[in-house]
Amino acid sequence: MGLDKKYETGILWQDTQHRQLVDLMEKLSDSNAREADSKMFTYTTAFLAMYVTHHFNLEEQYMKAYGYPELEFHLKEHQKYIDMVKTFRRDHTHFSGEGALFLEKNILKWILDHIMDNDQKLGAFIRIEERKRILAQEG
Ligand SMILES: [Fe+2]
Ligand SMILES: [Fe+2]
Repeated sequence: MGLDKKYETGILWQDTQHRQLVDLMEKLSDSNAREADSKMFTYTTAFLAMYVTHHFNLEEQYMKAYGYPELEFHLKEHQKYIDMVKTFRRDHTHFSGEGALFLEKNILKWILDHIMDNDQKLGAFIRIEERKRILAQEG
C-alpha cells in the first residue's frame, strides 16, 4: 500500500521508512478499536524503540551532509521523542488498555505530526540540495 500523500516528503528512503510507521499506526488503531491486544502493544513498543534510533540516525546523516539550517532544532525534536518512548516503555512494561490507547493517541501520533511538519521541511530541503548537485554536475 502506498503512503498517504499528506505524509510524503518526496524522498524515497524517507517515505519508505515513514510508511512503516503509518502501517504500524493503522494496525495498532485497528487492534485498539476491536479489543486492545497485548501482543500488538508489545510489538509496537519494541518496534518503535528499534526503529527510531535507526531512522533518526539516517535523517541526521543527511542533515549533516547537506548542511541543513534547522539541524539543531530537528535533532532536539528527535531526542525529545527518544526520551518519550523510553519513559513510556519504562512506565508500561505490562500491557494495559489505557497504555495501548496512549501509545496510539500520543506516542505514534507525535511522530506522524513530526513527519507532516519537520520531516517534510527536511525532505523539501534535501530535494533542492540534490537538484543543485545534479545541475552542478551537468555544468
Ligand atoms: Fe522521519
Ligand atoms: Fe525527523
